[in-house]
Amino acid sequence: MPDYDVLAKSIQSLTEGEDDTVALMATVACEVHHSDDRFDWTGFYRVTAPEMLKIGPYQGGHGCLQIPFSRGVCGAAARTGKVQLVADVDAFPGHIACATSTRSELVLPVLNADGDLIAVFDIDSDQPDAFSESDAEALKAILKDVFARP
Ligand code: SME
Repeated sequence: MPDYDVLAKSIQSLTEGEDDTVALMATVACEVHHSDDRFDWTGFYRVTAPEMLKIGPYQGGHGCLQIPFSRGVCGAAARTGKVQLVADVDAFPGHIACATSTRSELVLPVLNADGDLIAVFDIDSDQPDAFSESDAEALKAILKDVFARP
């Protein structure tokens, strides 16, 4: 488990004064990805049109370029506005396998300061049941600090 207090402070320092969303996403994806060996793919899918997600900054192997809200774990997070904590991706109906090695996944909605959904943040692991509620809560706080700044 990363030291999320240290990670949050590092990301806060690296992104201080920055308001460009792509730059913020690239920094968050990089810092989170390299903070823990459980994280084998780490990145964003952006809301680019109604009911449509398109890939954003990420770390790891190639990711599929677009995901409608009706599909996958990312689409479920975008559609419901709720964190998707998936212990076994093979048990998730409609899981989209960008890599056959993925065993578990954590996807969080990303909101801006107005409370609008702007993206989802997706982390894949090759380890089964790799994520916990503690990961979700800590990452939720980091995403709010970076993307929902007043
Ligand atoms: N697994 C995701 C798709 C994105 S790739 O994992 C990077 C999903 O089911 O939505």
